[in-house]
Parts: sequence; structure tokens; C-alpha cells
Amino acid sequence: MSAEAVPQAEGSVYVMGRTTEEYDRLRGQAKILEPITASVLERAGLSVGMSCLDVGSGRGEVMRLMADRVGPSGRVVGLDVDGRLGREAADILASRGYTQCTFIEGDLQSLEFANNELFDFVFARIVLQHLDDPILGLRNMYRRVKPGGRIVIQDYTFRTIDHYPSFEAADECLRVFFAVYEKVGRVTRMGVQLPSHFIEAGIGPPDGADVGGGLLPIAKSAQMLAAVYRSVLPLALKFGITTEERSTALLSELGSNQPQSGYFLWPLLLSAWKTKPA
Ligand SMILES: C[S@@+](CC[C@H](N)C(=O)[O-])C[C@H]1O[C@@H](n2cnc3c(N)ncnc32)[C@H](O)[C@@H]1O
Repeated sequence: MSAEAVPQAEGSVYVMGRTTEEYDRLRGQAKILEPITASVLERAGLSVGMSCLDVGSGRGEVMRLMADRVGPSGRVVGLDVDGRLGREAADILASRGYTQCTFIEGDLQSLEFANNELFDFVFARIVLQHLDDPILGLRNMYRRVKPGGRIVIQDYTFRTIDHYPSFEAADECLRVFFAVYEKVGRVTRMGVQLPSHFIEAGIGPPDGADVGGGLLPIAKSAQMLAAVYRSVLPLALKFGITTEERSTALLSELGSNQPQSGYFLWPLLLSAWKTKPA
């Protein structure tokens, strides 16, 4: 797949970049996370006929999970700062018969869109970690929850990543990833911060929480790691965290020298949810 650059949507620095390869990576990641997200949507009470807002809807993979649960009488609105990605996702969903799904281009940090609609279910997966002001993002989402409705947030904590046996290319990949996050001022443990952020945003302590993860064969993980690496590489080069030469060697190493029978502990996806008082 090519890494053709597409225009950056406006807004704050997005560490993962906006390439066709990154869009494909999002789909691969969504497959890994699907069982965790599906279970949390159900535990948090998503059901037939509800209206939902999926903030940072990306490729629309969570919109599809929501649409399957709310059915044709429900409504699923995707919101993303990347209008091109969101519109493509909405077109694909429509072509598959998901007529309850629509998309709006917008920035969570202002959350200005056409009307002031309130929703039964307001959701975001792996979005808060990308914001300059996650508390503002949470407040804006909570404002869109109907009385009696729910806010549900999922985000990663990266510090638990591990693998066995040792695999130096994976370690170097992670070094670059963490250094880019640090340079851009993004947090690598948003998942574990969610309950405190709920309280700080005035939402209150979560009613429920969940921890999900995956233990994947190194071969599959190496592909995902390489995709993550390529997505952060432009910023890593810009900040002098690595060089073209080093990164070419690393990508080749990641693909060819994987330890046999190795497994990789994927970052944990943490969830928190809260019902708004009726
Ligand atoms: C890592 S992706 C996650 C996509 C999707 N939620 C998923 O889990 O598959 C983060 C998404 O959030 C979007 N995003 C980042 N900052 C945003 C903002 N301020 N407002 C709305 N969307 C934003 C990005 O464009 C991207 O599509």
C-alpha cells in the first residue's frame, strides 16, 4: 500500500499523520480492538433505537458496531476533524446499507456543528490522547449527552507494552514512538488517566470501567509496529529522533528478523463510562 500523503486537516499536530497507509493501519487496529469495543458498548447499555455520536470516527469502524446495535430505528453520527476520511467512511457504510449513519466534519475541541443535537450515547476511542486539551474535549462531549444518556471513552495506555523473547527492532520502534509522543507533548497513558479526567471535567467518577488487551504473535504485531513506525516517522525525522538510513534498516529488520514463537503484549485499551443524571 502506498504512503501517499494527503492534505493535513486543520487543527493541532496529529502525531500519526494522514496518509493512506495510516488509514489502512486504523482498519487493522480496529479489527484487533473490535471485541473489546463491542463488549464495552453493550456493557455501557447501547441498545436499539438510541442516537449516538462517535467522536474521532476515523474509518467508521466503531460507527458500524454502533449501527449494528441501535438498528435501523437508531441514529449514528460520526464526527472527525479529517473530513476526507470521515466522508469516505460514511460512503462505505451507506453502500453497505447502514442508512442510519451520517458524518459531520468538525473539531472536538470546539464541537461547533450545525445544530445542538443531544445524544443518548457519546463515544470516543483513541481520540483524547491526540488532543491539546483532553479535559475540554471531555467537557464538550458531555455537553452533547442527553439527561439519562451515557458518555463512553476508550483510550490506550502504552507503558504496559511488552514482548518475549527479546526483539531489538521492536524496542527501537518503541523508542522512536515514545520520543515522538514526548516531543509533541502527547501523553502515553491516557487510558489510566480517564477516571481522573472524568472528575476534572465535571462528569464525576465513572460508573463502569474496563481493561482490554491482546497477546498477539510477533509476526502480526511486527506488521502493526511497522505501520505505526511509518506513521510517526515524518515527525521522528523532523525532530532528529532517527535518520532515514536508520529507519530503512529498522523496517527491514522488523520484517525479516522476528524471533520465532515470540508474542507481543498489545497496549491496553482502557474504558470508562458514566450516565448523565436524568
Ligand atoms: C487513532 S484515530 C481513532 C479512530 C477511531 N476512533 C478508531 O478507534 O478506529 C483518531 C481519530 O481522531 C481524529 N481526531 C483527532 N483530533 C480530533 C479532534 N480534535 N476532533 C475530532 N477528531 C479528531 C483523527 O482525525 C482520527 O480519525
